[in-house]
Amino acid sequence: MAAGVLMPMVRFAIDPVLAKEANQDMVAVTEVAKIGDEPKRFNFKIKQKDGWYESEVTLSAWVYKNGKGEINALSPVCKHLGCTIDWNTDPGHPNQFYCPCHGGRYTKDGTNVKGTPPLAPLDVYESKVKDGKLYLGKAKPRKGA
Ligand code: FES
Repeated sequence: MAAGVLMPMVRFAIDPVLAKEANQDMVAVTEVAKIGDEPKRFNFKIKQKDGWYESEVTLSAWVYKNGKGEINALSPVCKHLGCTIDWNTDPGHPNQFYCPCHGGRYTKDGTNVKGTPPLAPLDVYESKVKDGKLYLGKAKPRKGA
């Protein structure tokens, strides 16, 4: 009888944890045909569940194909203090990602340029291609340079 009373309470207590795991699905971001060798910013929406509160959040990724034809999807969040980076906007350092907040720079593959504020490379989104579309999951950190 105690188990019959306790089980719903335990389920109620851990439900947000279970829901978070189920909430990590990949979402379609763009057609692969729209991805070139120049980084391009794509916005996409994910459903987020915080406890019992559900909301829709807009994320973005810098996406391009590298020299091997592999798709790279980088987070636009600067690893210094979290500003949003942009591609090729610093005339003094063309073909790099640039953070306007404190002059942080990253090479095309997201590696932080030594001597600038960021101490780690840009996070990389989990990605997969299915039926000609790019799907992205969570952005994951890489080891620092
Ligand atoms: S937040 Fe990007 S360089 Fe400081």
